[in-house]
Parts: sequence; C-alpha cells; structure tokens
Amino acid sequence: AMQGDVLAKERRDLRQQEQQDKAAKEAQKTDLNQEWNDPMVAAGERRFAADLRQPQQNGAGAQEMPEWKKIASGRGELGKRTNLSIREQREQLPAFKMRKQFLEAVKQYQLLIVVGDTGSGKTTQLTQYLAEAGFANEGMIGCTQPRRVAAMSVAARVSDEVGCRLGEEVGYTIRFEDKTSENTKIKYMTDGIMQREILLDPELSKYSVIMLDEAHERTIATDVLFGLLKKTLKRRPDMKVIVTSATLDAEKFSAYFNECPILSIPGRTFPVEVMYSREPESDYLDSALTTVMQIHLTEPPGDILLFLTGKEEIDTSCEILYERMKALGPAVPELVILPIYGALPSEIASRIFEPAASGSRKVVIATNIAETSITIDGIYFVIDPGFVKQTAYDAKLGMDRLQVTPISQAQAKQRAGRAGRTGPGKCFRLYTENAFQSEMLPTTIPEIQRQNLSNTILMLKAMGINDLLGFDFMDPPPTNTMLTALEELYALSALDDEGLLTRLGRRMADMPMEPTLAKSLIASVDLGCADEMLSIVAMISAVQSVFHRPKDKQQQADQKRARFNDPAGDHLTLLNVYNGWRGAGRVDAWCFEYFIQPRNMRRAEDVRKQLVQILERHKLRIISCGRDTLRVRQALCAGFFRNSARKDPQEGYKTLVEGTPVYMHPASALFGKAAEHVVYHSLVETTREYMHNVTAIEPKWLVEAAPTFFKVAGKGGELSRRKKAERIQPLHNRFAGEDEWRLSAQRR
Ligand code: CDP
Ligand code: MG
Repeated sequence: AMQGDVLAKERRDLRQQEQQDKAAKEAQKTDLNQEWNDPMVAAGERRFAADLRQPQQNGAGAQEMPEWKKIASGRGELGKRTNLSIREQREQLPAFKMRKQFLEAVKQYQLLIVVGDTGSGKTTQLTQYLAEAGFANEGMIGCTQPRRVAAMSVAARVSDEVGCRLGEEVGYTIRFEDKTSENTKIKYMTDGIMQREILLDPELSKYSVIMLDEAHERTIATDVLFGLLKKTLKRRPDMKVIVTSATLDAEKFSAYFNECPILSIPGRTFPVEVMYSREPESDYLDSALTTVMQIHLTEPPGDILLFLTGKEEIDTSCEILYERMKALGPAVPELVILPIYGALPSEIASRIFEPAASGSRKVVIATNIAETSITIDGIYFVIDPGFVKQTAYDAKLGMDRLQVTPISQAQAKQRAGRAGRTGPGKCFRLYTENAFQSEMLPTTIPEIQRQNLSNTILMLKAMGINDLLGFDFMDPPPTNTMLTALEELYALSALDDEGLLTRLGRRMADMPMEPTLAKSLIASVDLGCADEMLSIVAMISAVQSVFHRPKDKQQQADQKRARFNDPAGDHLTLLNVYNGWRGAGRVDAWCFEYFIQPRNMRRAEDVRKQLVQILERHKLRIISCGRDTLRVRQALCAGFFRNSARKDPQEGYKTLVEGTPVYMHPASALFGKAAEHVVYHSLVETTREYMHNVTAIEPKWLVEAAPTFFKVAGKGGELSRRKKAERIQPLHNRFAGEDEWRLSAQRR
C-alpha cells in the first residue's frame, strides 16, 4: 500500500512540475540563437517550409530530367561516385560549406544542434571535420546511430574516405560486434551501445566529442542519452555534444538543451512532384509493385526507392518483381532489384550504394531505414505506400508488439524528399490526399511514449537513477508505462520492495539482452544448465533464424529441420541444432545437408563466446545439465513467465496474463502437438498472433519462478494438486489489493 501511495504522490508532483516547467521556459525564452539566425538558417527553414511540389532554384540542370544517355555517361552524384576523387566528392556535399562555421561553433559552445537534410553530409562529414581539427587528439569522437546497418555502412564509407582499414582510425561497435581498435579516433555505434558505455563509465572519459546523430528518430536510447549526456556535460566541461537532426524540430531540441545554438546546413534539393492515389488502395503491396513496373517501363531514367514495412514483404516483392521482369523477356531494359532491411548481411547491404550499370535501372526496396538513416544516390522516383512497422506497447498482451501502422505526415515528406537529391523527382503516394491530411499524425510519437520501458528503467536504476519521475526526459513517458515497467522488473526480482536494484538486477543490467532473457540466463546458472542456456540465448540473440528455406526446396528443408525437433519445444530444438553443428566434422557440408545457414551459425558461436566471457566476469559457473534438459525449461520460466499461455479447448492458446488468444507458429516444433502450458519468446503478428520460439512447461514452474506474480487459485486442501496447478492465475503483483490503482493503470 505504501508504494502505491508514494507513486500516486509522485504522479501528482510530476504533473505540477510539468506545468511549472512550461511556464518557466516560456518566460526565459530569449533569442540566444540570434547570431545563428543568419541567412543560412533562414534558408534552411524556408527550404523546409516550401511545399515539395514547388520548383526551387538549385543551380544548373535543376529543371530538366536527364536523359538515358546522360545518366549512362555519368551525371550528378552517380558520376561523382565514379569519376570524382574522394576529396572532390566530399567538397561537394552541403556540409562542406559550413565546415568553418561548424568548427567554430563547436569550439565556442559545449552543446550544438545541427540541422540539415538527409544526405547533406552530417553523419559522414562532421566527424571527419572534428578529427581533422584535432578534436580526436585527447579522446575519441563517438557518433551514435539508431540502427545497426547505418552504423556499419557509415563507418565503412568514412574509413574509405579517410583511407584506412575499417576498424583502425574509423570503426564501429554494434551489439556483439566490435570493429574498433586502440587507434580508433572516429567510432560509430548504435545508441544502445552508447547507453551501455555510459552505464559503465558515466563520465565517458574515452570520448572528447559525442555526436547524437539522427536525433529526429527519437529512439528510446537516444532520448535517454539526451538526459544522461546533459548530466555528463556538467562533470566534463571539456567534452562536446552535438545533436543532429534531419528535420526542423531543432527549436524543441534547443529549448531542451539549455537553449543551445542551432546550426543549419542549407539544403541542395530539387523539386519533387507528389502524386496521390485517386482512390484508397485495397492492396498496397500489389499496387506498389505495379507502380514499380510502370515507372520502369514508361518513365525516364532514374532509380526507384520503394518503402515497405519489413523483411518478409521485401523478400516477397523482390521475388515477384524478378518473375515479372523475367516474363517480359530481354526486350526491356534491365531492372536491378535490391532489398535493404535491418537484418540483411552487410555485404549485400553495401551493394545498394553502387550505381546500376548503364542502360539499366535500380529499384531499392527498403524499410524506413532509407527514410533518413541511409542515403542512396541517384533516386528519382519514390513509392510510398504510407506504412511502417513499429513496436508499440500492447496493453492487452502486456508486451511490445510489432505492428504495421500509418506513417506520419513528417515521415511522408521525408520519404518524398528522397526523390529530389540528384535531380527533380517524383513521389507516388499510394494513399489519397485526404488520407494524408486527415488520417496521418503531423509527427511521429517518440518511441519512449509508446514502448515498453523495462529495459531502459533497469539501466537507469543500474546507474543509480532512482527518481525516475524526476528524470530530465525531453518528452517524459506516460507515468503508467513507467509503473508497468517497474512492476515487471519487480516480478523478475530485479527490483526489491523499495524499488531499488537487487544484486540480480545489477547482473541483468550487465547482460546485453532484454531483461527476460538475462533473467533466464542467470537462472540457468543456479539450475546447473548454463552451458545449454548459453547456446540457446546465442542462437536467439545472434540471428533471426539459422534455418535456410529455399523456395524450390521448402519441403526438403522442412523435413531436415524436423530432425532437430525436440518434443519439449523450440528452445531445445535450437540447442539440438547448435550441438549438431558443433559436433559436425565438416561444418559446411553439414550445414548444406541440413539447410542451415553457416554464416549465421558462426555468428551464433561468436555471440556465445562473448556471453561466456560476461558470465566468467561475473564469476558465474557454466555447468552442463547433460540430458536433464527439464532444467533448461525451468530456467526459461524464470524469465518468460509473463509470456505464458494455456491450450484453449476450442482452438489455439490463451495467454495466462490477459487471456488473449494466441497461436502456435506452424514452424514450431510444438505445432500440432498437445502441449498444455507453454512459454514463448515473442509474438509475431501476421494473419494472427503467433507465438515464436515456444517451449512446453509445467505450470508449477511458473509459480516457482515468479511467486509474486502468480498464485495458485483456491484454498489449499480443497483442490487436488492437479486442479490447483490448472488454476494458476496471475496475481499481478504486490499491488494486487489496490483495485483503485489497477483501474487507473488500465484506464490510460
Ligand atoms: O547524415 P546525412 O544524411 O546528412 O548525410 P551522410 O549520411 O553523411 O551522406 C553524405 C553522402 O555520403 C551521401 O551522398 C551518401 O550517399 C554518401 N554515403 C555513401 O556513399 N555511403 C554510405 N554508406 C553512407 C553515405
Ligand atoms: Mg545521417
């Protein structure tokens, strides 16, 4: 009851504080930016405000669409890529004109916001300017990226420009992959990695400058870093922080960052003609592919960028397009089809930057990674179906869920802008103008306001930040989201009754994975099956899947895969695969035989080694349980008790927490089997809510794993043991008695 009261009070205080802050900010809003309100800044704003359809004066050639021949002989950025020296290419980027002003501003101010269109050179150039000006002499220049692919590809590009091997002066770090060395001066990394580093060293003593790049994406990690870096700066007067954004929310950033100056990089964009669908599209995928073909067959030269929502959609589209092109025969110009999404291996991803051979056209099919993080030159046509796949917290499931949702107007503008980098372009919006006006939000809601925060809160607690409601968030998350996360961490025993971090919680924070998986891994140490759990965690964390399922050999692949199936479920099936691979004499032949992707296995092995090191650092003993794999399933319950479901007499399963219907994924080892109670790793939504990576369990394990979360219904003695086990219900938590609190939590 105490805790509930305290939280209620914190909520009240928070609201009051909000109002006071707002008033104070308005009052002290002076024009600190005046000296930056020079023509450059103004130009930037005008450029953004101008409708994308309005033609702009942008130098020679802006008005005419290049002809086939001109493209072939190398024009615009394509030409530069092939004909110009790296120095010349760098000097043509819009950022170059601002180099001097930028360096002066960094010298003068501790905090600086840089705004500029995507492709203007913020990510690749600013870090180099800093290094060239000596900022890397005392410490590294760190640059964060919201996405792994962006961190890798940008680091590769910059090491090219600098002329060093990747991982030497220029390197990158992403989860489970560190390509840096003692010589590294410019380090790209995901914002998640930076968050880990600041946890280990709040002073960030290895760095002289931190660039929070792509801040407009507003990922949770970047948002949290905003607040943490503000603190670090107070303790490190010599350190600099640069925040970059591709959109003009700079005013808001500046207000948050102590009214710091804004530097605007004037754009160099061409007009983009925006076309809307006349009628709403019933099947956006089909109409997107039709549009690709129409552009290819009827429009002048220029590459195409199509935005889709995820890997499956992209892979399918590539196949369909390939077939359609094949059917047209050799008479039509070649269409080079290139997919790009987060999970794509880096080698393939780098191909998207290469210009298409003369006489052919390139179509890049991308997730919204190509919206701002990655710039592909030579795009004249953008097809925007208007959707994006986002994680959002689903209160009914009590967990994050990937959902396809409409994009915001700001995103639509950003996507359209991608067509106007090399010359005047066209954007085909596969939705009506009315839908754009009335159904799309003006801007995207920051992740921190719509996602599960248990990971973030665990990290903040591990940094000793206990007053979460008082944390300096730019946009604070809803109080209830924070409470849910606290509850979850309490149920996982990462927090104690007082909401303070436990020893277990501290350990969990040190594991580079979500709290649920970390808990299972640590639990496996006590259960004497860490050797097995390490393999499973590595297989789950390293790659999306190790199974290879070629279109023409699906049945054969499925048969081979079934040989690994474990009666207890998918986690142990993954273990069987891993053990099979490790025991194989000639691994590549083995992989070929069993339709396993060798590269993904090597990656899993690499991740496993890193995890072993982490456990060793914590002096946690790695023991094997041999054939007694029941323990592995118990360890899984220790982390995933929330993700539990029970077979429904009618059809499918129902989650224990909210009774939501969920289904066994057809690829699961338990598909068509009679498992009564299961835990699952995640839910994948396609046509239905599918459980992914499922293991059969006994319900009493849930009670053992999370006594504060589950209780056995009914009074002792009246029910048989079996009945009792069947009637396990979520107790929810120690706030259970407080109906008032729960109601308020659900109302939001
Ligand atoms: O960060 P911003 O969007 O302002 O631009 P950037 O990523 O620094 O890109 C500047 C230029 O480098 C663009 O012309 C990109 O096409 C090019 N680039 C590249 O060729 N390969 C990469 N991996 C990344 C950027
Ligand atoms: Mg960038």
